[in-house]
Amino acid sequence: MRITFANLALPTTGACAVFVLDGSKLTASAAALDKATRGALKRAMGVSRFKGGKGQSLSVLAPAGSKLDRILLVGLGKAKGVDEKIMQSAGGQIQAALANTGKSAASVCVDVLDGGKMTVGDMAANLAYGARLRSYRFDKYRTTEKADAKPSLKTFKVLSKGTAAAKRGFTALNKIADGVFMTRDLVSEPPNVLYPESLAAEAKSLTKLGIKVTVLGEKQMQRLGMGALLGVGQGSVRESKLVVMEWNGAPKSKGDKPLAFVGKGVTFDTGGISLKPGAGMEDMKWDMGGSGVVIGLMKALAGRKAKANVIGVVGLVENMPGGNAQRPGDIVTSMSGQTIEILNTDAEGRLVLADAMHYTVDKYDPKFVIDLATLTGAIIISLGAEYAGMFSNSDQLSDRLSAAGEQVEEKVWRMPLGDVYDKMLESQAADMQNIGGRAGGSITAAQFLQRFIGKTPWCHLDIAGVTWSKKDAPTVPRGGTAFGVRLLDRLVSNHYEKG
Ligand code: BES
Ligand code: MN
Ligand code: ZN
Repeated sequence: MRITFANLALPTTGACAVFVLDGSKLTASAAALDKATRGALKRAMGVSRFKGGKGQSLSVLAPAGSKLDRILLVGLGKAKGVDEKIMQSAGGQIQAALANTGKSAASVCVDVLDGGKMTVGDMAANLAYGARLRSYRFDKYRTTEKADAKPSLKTFKVLSKGTAAAKRGFTALNKIADGVFMTRDLVSEPPNVLYPESLAAEAKSLTKLGIKVTVLGEKQMQRLGMGALLGVGQGSVRESKLVVMEWNGAPKSKGDKPLAFVGKGVTFDTGGISLKPGAGMEDMKWDMGGSGVVIGLMKALAGRKAKANVIGVVGLVENMPGGNAQRPGDIVTSMSGQTIEILNTDAEGRLVLADAMHYTVDKYDPKFVIDLATLTGAIIISLGAEYAGMFSNSDQLSDRLSAAGEQVEEKVWRMPLGDVYDKMLESQAADMQNIGGRAGGSITAAQFLQRFIGKTPWCHLDIAGVTWSKKDAPTVPRGGTAFGVRLLDRLVSNHYEKG
């Protein structure tokens, strides 16, 4: 789908959308269209419950004789409440409503709102961004889909005054969308196609954006002593990888520490010898979601040339049973020197992160580390698909993440950490064991990670409940969500960019 910008004019052909405010108050374009259709819009509103509330919409067929076919009325609520989220949702909603009508073009009129806080350029840019985000589709393996089952919408025209500002705003937002799309692609790829080496190659493709990408193989990780990560991958015929991505968008001044993001990249999680049940196991292709977010985030940051120095590290393994697989009872030595008794080979994400996080802190001494992982089923029981779980040793960092989450509609909820939970990891045979028992499963997992972070400010995001969605949302079609890309991009732009 192509998105174009043009000066505000009343659409005369094809499908179009116009906005209505609370109390059925027509925007200027809606009023003009109502007049041009001899009152068709007001009449349609009169026989429906559509009153212009935010999230509401009403599809009206243009009267006979008009060259317009469909007019979509979209509610924005109160003018003074209209913000970027509302415009993005409206864009997504319009895209979804007009994507499959059989028509290839649609235009949306964005008017200046009396009493509104946003400039019309910002409104148009955010509308277009929402439409792009919603237009995502993963269909590369669907070879027999009929043409009339595919989206018909090819051109999405945004009409407003101030097209220069709209285009400028959208160009930057669109780079974030590029990162989101890359993450969604990676999460959607099947596990026979996406495995540690091929995922590393995807990360390597970011080199063309000016990102430095280094890939470590098993030999190098052995030399570094990464026994925890390597133990997880040893049952797989696919070689484990550790990928380091570096984006230097800020002038390097002395003492300036980089920001670091670390992702769990289990390209398929069978559970290993502690095998998972068969039903639903296919979902475990998205157990690399954390790494997908870190890679997409790096793409977004480099794409929009963020003025920050950022490190992305992803630990890539496949957790398989096999003749050489790790056993329950094994004791491994992590890169930090701490030993771990493996009591359940399905608690593998924390083992991967333990070495990836220690490596990151040891090598880069970052300002903070934020790790993302589809780490526990327990976080889905706690928070469902509404919030990611957040665990942190830093009030400042976690407050900043919470605020960014509200701004971009990728919300995080802070969960507790504490010594009593940490004690649940004590082992009879090693420095710790890799599970704490059923109670507080997400917390003991986070507690395990904390043993590898030291004093660095840190947030762990358990994204198991939010990485994949079974239902459509305004800017997120069902499937891989890329939850975290927009959140972390916003965290960086809010607080960590120069100038
Ligand atoms: N990748 C899973 C967590 C998961 C489960 C993500 C369901 C998404 C949906 C993780 O590796 C895992 O298996 N965790 C175990 C931990 C347990 C063995 C302590 C779990 O949550 O059951
Ligand atoms: Mn597992
Ligand atoms: Zn896992």
